[in-house]
Amino acid sequence: MNILKFLIILAVLFSAYGQEVDHEAIKRGYEVFRQSCSLCHMERASLWEFLKARLKVLKGERPQNIDAPPMNLVSARIKKFYPTEVEFVEFVKDYITNPSREKGVCFKAAYVFFGVMPPIGQGMSEEDKTAVAKWLYYRFSDRWDDLFRKVKELQRQVRSEK
Ligand code: HEC
Repeated sequence: MNILKFLIILAVLFSAYGQEVDHEAIKRGYEVFRQSCSLCHMERASLWEFLKARLKVLKGERPQNIDAPPMNLVSARIKKFYPTEVEFVEFVKDYITNPSREKGVCFKAAYVFFGVMPPIGQGMSEEDKTAVAKWLYYRFSDRWDDLFRKVKELQRQVRSEK
């Protein structure tokens, strides 16, 4: 093995080590989600549920049986604007503490039909806010553009079957 290869392998090992995921925080984050967020946010919506909600919204109606955007969609949507863990966590911690329409990155319909979310984070510890934000970052791996493309494909299929 030449020295260059050796150095590259070392660099890769170290960069992976530097980004080690905080599994304890993520586990705690799921508990926080269940206690403080799941009342309004479901954990995951299937593509069908996403489509059903989207069709309602396109008709100008409130999506049924939900009080807030599902977390897999929230996670993917925020990553589109705040892709790294650090900026994502910072955004989520700030948003849940001081939410506002101006800061939010959801579709306009979310604020119209559900209203701006209450400042739940004001009653939470820094640690719990960080934990739930990390959980939200690592729990889901979908990319917003893929999800949205898939839901529009599904929409076309449904329409053409009619
Ligand atoms: C009382 C209902 C309710 C609870 C409880 C709640 N949320 Fe929300 N949340 C909403 C609604 C409604 C929206 C959509 C409107 C908005 O973004 O403000 C939302 C949106 C969000 C968003 C997207 C922000 C954006 O860009 O607009 C994040 C992130 C979020 N919630 C995180 C959380 C976390 C984390 C918790 C638990 C600690 C939580 N929420 C608890 C109702 C709630």
